[in-house]
Amino acid sequence: MVALGSFIDRVVLIRGGVHRYSALVGTNLLDQFGKYARKYLAREGSAIISDSNVAPLFAERVTKSLRSAGFRSTLITIPAGEKSKTLEQAGAICDQMIAAGLDRQSFVIGLGGGVIGDISGFVAAIYHRGIPHVQIPTTLLAMVDSSIGGKTGVDTRDGKNLIGVFHHPSLVIDDLDVLKTLPRREFNQGFAEIIKHAIIADTRMFRILQSWKAGAAPALQRLIKRNIKIKSKIVAKDERDQTGERAVLNFGHTVGHAIERAGNYRKFLHGEAVSLGIVAACAISMKKAGLPADQRNAIVSLLQRYELPTRLPPTFPREKIFDALKFDKKFEDGKIRFVVTPRIGLARVTSAVTLDDIREAVSQL
Ligand SMILES: NC(=O)c1ccc[n+]([C@@H]2O[C@H](COP(=O)([O-])OP(=O)(O)OC[C@H]3O[C@@H](n4cnc5c(N)ncnc54)[C@H](O)[C@@H]3O)[C@@H](O)[C@H]2O)c1
Ligand SMILES: [Zn+2]
Repeated sequence: MVALGSFIDRVVLIRGGVHRYSALVGTNLLDQFGKYARKYLAREGSAIISDSNVAPLFAERVTKSLRSAGFRSTLITIPAGEKSKTLEQAGAICDQMIAAGLDRQSFVIGLGGGVIGDISGFVAAIYHRGIPHVQIPTTLLAMVDSSIGGKTGVDTRDGKNLIGVFHHPSLVIDDLDVLKTLPRREFNQGFAEIIKHAIIADTRMFRILQSWKAGAAPALQRLIKRNIKIKSKIVAKDERDQTGERAVLNFGHTVGHAIERAGNYRKFLHGEAVSLGIVAACAISMKKAGLPADQRNAIVSLLQRYELPTRLPPTFPREKIFDALKFDKKFEDGKIRFVVTPRIGLARVTSAVTLDDIREAVSQL
């Protein structure tokens, strides 16, 4: 397949604090990966960290490409799924890297979805006190969201992402071809984060999404680039999530995370839970931020267009969602930092939302 567009068309330059890195978005990038790694990384050895679904599909091409560019690489495969995102697994990966003789001059490549991106980034951040990390996201969600912004980490018994480090990647490679093997449900869940980006920051993208059709690579390339720009621009304003500016990215996530947890991380994919969380956040935004009803309806229709859930199954235990809310990191000193949208294209954090408001919105889902 012919590479999509010129090199310039494929590059998004990202600023994260003092860090600058590039995301390459296009087709046929895996086979050229070694060449790009040479351009951006003056290193020798590398660890490719991947999962049991993704490694059989793409690891060989990445390995071959690295070898032809003169890099050594060791493939480390972990079981697919969120249950692998643990401190124990990160430790086991480090042990394998040590056994493979990888030193401070090496780098880590995360080849997979958000789980692999998060754990491989975490390993890169702690291995020899920090070595470069390259993200090769293989899910839509990871391309538009988790591979950008430098948040890495693992889960603990008590909750998701409770242990982690900020560690920006040195390079992000988004090869659109890899999405062809992604199950439809996994592809669709990426749209929850894309729609979230539109609601909080991009009215025009919201309108485009209302008639957007999947299929054509150039359209997908433009969409992914646009989402990388939205996320990285917000992150650049508040790299360490301290001023509240980055927090707008959590739109739909307070309730979304609680739903994910209430479903034992099995019932709903992250993006599906976020879709439901967005619907709840819209109800709260109507009440507390003056979101017009027709805009709320347009948001719900857009989520449905991408086959995302907008109602909870009638039998789903709502009480479990309320119980799960208290694990949210956004509850600081008992106060809720809740993200509302006064109108599509805009979002802000408020402390005017009460637990009762959230309960009401969840009971209407
Ligand atoms: N760091 C951040 O800023 C950030 C942001 C959002 C989400 N996350 C994290 O991302 C994770 C969710 O990411 P995800 O949805 O990508 O999950 P995932 O990594 O578990 O991938 C989903 C599934 O798809 C499979 N898969 C991946 N790519 C494939 C491909 N090309 N073809 C076929 N199968 C493929 C995986 O093996 C897995 O079974 C969560 O752990 C979440 O906490 C992090
Ligand atoms: Zn999310």
